[in-house]
Amino acid sequence: MKVTIDGISVEVPDGTSILNAARIIGGDIVPPAMCYYSKLAGSGGKCRTCLVKVSKGSEKDPRPMPKLVASCRTNVMDGMEVQNITSPEVIEARKGVVEMLLINHPLDCPICDQAGECHLQDLAFEHGAVKTRYEFDRRTFNKIDIGDKIQLHMTRCILCYRCVYVADQITDHRIHGILNRGDHSEISTYIQAAVDNDFSGNVIDVCPVGALTDKTFRFKNRVWFTKPVEAHRDCDHEKCKGEVTLWYKGDDVLRVTARKDVYGEVEDFICNTCRFDKKKTADWVIDGPRKVSYQSVISSNHYDFTPLPVVKTNPVLQEANKEQFERETRL
Ligand code: SF4
Ligand code: FES
Repeated sequence: MKVTIDGISVEVPDGTSILNAARIIGGDIVPPAMCYYSKLAGSGGKCRTCLVKVSKGSEKDPRPMPKLVASCRTNVMDGMEVQNITSPEVIEARKGVVEMLLINHPLDCPICDQAGECHLQDLAFEHGAVKTRYEFDRRTFNKIDIGDKIQLHMTRCILCYRCVYVADQITDHRIHGILNRGDHSEISTYIQAAVDNDFSGNVIDVCPVGALTDKTFRFKNRVWFTKPVEAHRDCDHEKCKGEVTLWYKGDDVLRVTARKDVYGEVEDFICNTCRFDKKKTADWVIDGPRKVSYQSVISSNHYDFTPLPVVKTNPVLQEANKEQFERETRL
């Protein structure tokens, strides 16, 4: 199937979604996804952040689709033409979706453990309105401990269902899910029973916001002060490869997570032993530094210098930034 997204054409196998076709192209034209997760069957179709415009349905039937469509749930047709960042209508709609997601989500990034790696924070930064029009009280919940290692702060949940799919598909028995309907929907463990199985910690990694957090890491540090390093160990759990990211502060491993790809999805799910019980360097074989996108706040404290191109051409700035200029030109 040939599909053209924002003017860039790509050939993809039959049955590929528009979102995944865009991911094959890569770069800025890839729609954001808050609920779709390629490793979780059936995910997607909940958040609408991935809306795109289909300006030509297919070669056979070139009529445009009448409404914007969720790109994670719409498969490509041969000859289809799609607009994402080239459509003002899509950008406007996405802005509306962000406003909707933020209706109940607290703006508590400064005290949220997910800050710096929160997809909603990024989305709000790129598409959010400066002010909220919402006049009513936001819904709030008490924090709930799901076992001794995971905390649920339902106030921040955007009901993406990813954690429910993890519990359904990765763990042996699911005892948490979404209760109630509409505005009353909430993630719950029914009787707040602990999610107690070997892979339960993965709900932390898939949660796009700070609703599910690692209690062994909470408030230990801001993520951008830590140093991510790739490591592995011979894990004896049959389903766990033991390939992880260690987050260091000095010589201490503050937390262990699965390795995440460019779309923030885990490469492989990891077991709870690797995640929660192996917090010493001696437990691991270090593979090297984890590559972090230079735009990410996580890399903000790891720059050798901040390149300021204008310094190179402006003698006044060269003088003012002498030290930096010397470093730059030396490099
Ligand atoms: S707790 Fe997190 S992963 Fe689970 S539905 Fe809410 S936002 Fe999604
Ligand atoms: S990512 Fe497509 S609807 Fe959420």
